[in-house]
Amino acid sequence: MPFDRSIKIAPSILAADFAAFGAECEAAEAQGADWIHVDVMDGHFVPNLTLGPAMCKALRPHIKGVMDVHLMIAPVDPYIDAFAEAGADVLTAHVEAGPHVHRTLQAIRAAGMRPGVALNPGTPAEAVRDVLGLVDLVCVMTVNPGFGGQKFIDMGDKIRALREMIGDREIHIEIDGGVDPKTAPLVAAAGADVLVAGSAVFKGGSVADPAPYGANIRAIRAAAQG
Ligand code: DX5
Ligand code: ZN
Repeated sequence: MPFDRSIKIAPSILAADFAAFGAECEAAEAQGADWIHVDVMDGHFVPNLTLGPAMCKALRPHIKGVMDVHLMIAPVDPYIDAFAEAGADVLTAHVEAGPHVHRTLQAIRAAGMRPGVALNPGTPAEAVRDVLGLVDLVCVMTVNPGFGGQKFIDMGDKIRALREMIGDREIHIEIDGGVDPKTAPLVAAAGADVLVAGSAVFKGGSVADPAPYGANIRAIRAAAQG
C-alpha cells in the first residue's frame, strides 16, 4: 500500500469480544477502521497471554486492509515465519525483546512483511536510531504493554524526537495505549499518524450493534485532525 501520513485509526481487538474476533474485525472495518491491530502477548515479555499465529491466520480472511501485528513476546525470531505464513502485513517487535533487534527486523523484512519496532515508555527514542533504516513503522507505547484500558502516559517529547530523526523517510509513527478523543490531538500534533485504540473504539458497541464503533472512530479521527 502507498505511504501517507494521514491519520489512520487502528482498533485493537484486545478490547473486542474474544469469542467473535472475525466478526469484530469485519465490523470495525465496516465502521471505518483503517488498520486492524492484533496484540500478541506471551506471559513472559508482558504479564498477560493473548493469542498467536494460528489466530492471526484464522483472522486473515476477515480483514480486508492492513493486519498490524504487535508482538509483545521474547524471543521473537523463532516465530517470524509463522506470522508471515499467517498473513501479517506489519510485524512489530519490541526493541527491549532481545539483544539482536537489528537481526530480527532484517528477518521480518526477509519473510515478506513490513517491520515495525516498538518502544516501552521507559525506553528513549535514541534506542531505535540505528535501526530506522530497517523499519516501516515505529510504535511508541503510551502505556506499559500488557493490558488494554490503561491510563495514557504522555510521550510527546519522544514522539517529537522520533519525528525529527525520521525526517522525510517513509516511516509511520504509531501510538499505542490510552488513545481516545482527548489524547489523540496531543499525539497527532507531535507527529504520529497511526493511532491504535482498543477501549475507546469498542466501548458501547457490539457485533450486533456496531454503530458506536463508527462514532468512536470518527470522534478519535476528528480530534486528531484538529
Ligand atoms: C497494550 C496493547 C494495546 C492495547 C491498547 O499492551 O499493546 O494495543 O490494546 O488498548 P487501549 O486503547 O484500551 O489502551
Ligand atoms: Zn498493541
